Amino acid sequence: MVERVKTGIYGLDSLIEGGIIDKSAIVIVGSSGTGKTTFAMQFLMHGIDIGEQGLYVTMEESPEQIMREAKMMGWDMEKHYEKDLFFIHLKGKNFKKMIEEQLPQLVKVRSDYDIKTRVVIDPMTPVIWATEDKLMQRELIGKLFYTLKELGVVVATVEEHARPGETIGEDVLLPIYLADGVIHLEYYPIGGAFNRTMKIIKMRGTAHGEDVYPYIFARGAGVIVRSSPMEVSEKEGKSYDEIFDEAIRTAKHLKAPEYVVEKLEKMKAGWTYPYSPEEAIQIIFDTYNLK
Ligand SMILES: Nc1ncnc2c1ncn2[C@@H]1O[C@H](COP(=O)(O)OP(=O)(O)OP(=O)(O)O)[C@@H](O)[C@H]1O
Ligand SMILES: [Mg+2]
Repeated sequence: MVERVKTGIYGLDSLIEGGIIDKSAIVIVGSSGTGKTTFAMQFLMHGIDIGEQGLYVTMEESPEQIMREAKMMGWDMEKHYEKDLFFIHLKGKNFKKMIEEQLPQLVKVRSDYDIKTRVVIDPMTPVIWATEDKLMQRELIGKLFYTLKELGVVVATVEEHARPGETIGEDVLLPIYLADGVIHLEYYPIGGAFNRTMKIIKMRGTAHGEDVYPYIFARGAGVIVRSSPMEVSEKEGKSYDEIFDEAIRTAKHLKAPEYVVEKLEKMKAGWTYPYSPEEAIQIIFDTYNLK
């Protein structure tokens, strides 16, 4: 049996045979604002929830900026900073040198300790822009993936410039080609609850869902993907707070881990959305097998 790593992105794992095959590189493609960073952070923080470590490779933003962004989405990265969450800041001009020399050394040290680690490269776009030479781009991206996969699953985000509904742009074909899996995010600014969609373009070694799946953001929990048609009983007359309180009671009753209860509490505090949280809560319960 191949080992699969649960992404922690609610609704996604059931579409990819339970998770991502260990030591593979996944690319999240989408235009600006679709939720790539949110996906990546959620994947990383889920690992930390269950006792793994996280490595965040950044290019433009400092760790402080990223931790601030994470806080807004409901993840407390500071608590884990340099304990089980680490950052590598690949800066500007000497990408090539860093990727070819420093990174492998760093990885070697970590892999010697044999700690389960999730890696995020967000955004990976600057690596593509570092050079116009396609061969060089291919070499850099290939090395980045190859080196970091040594540690565990690598999730890299790539920005695309196509508009919703258009075919994937040429500028992102290389990372797509080199990755073991690709998830495409789109945003249709038309209002409503589920106006963001996810599609699995490829996932090597995996029989994956082939539809277009809507997803929402829930502050405190992250991305929630609707992986199957849902029928939630309309809890008529109940306020959203009451729905959350009931969910929290049920979760405790079902002996859910503390971090799950905490997530529901954070979600309750952050639920300012104009629609009922019932479906989102249902997907989260399914994810943690709370029945
Ligand atoms: N919990 C949330 N609730 C509501 N909206 C959210 C939530 N999390 C993120 N968003 C919205 O989604 C947007 C995009 O999120 P994110 O930063 O993950 O996208 P991105 O694809 O990484 O964008 P970029 O290309 O700018 O890096 C945010 O600007 C924010 O408006
Ligand atoms: Mg981003």
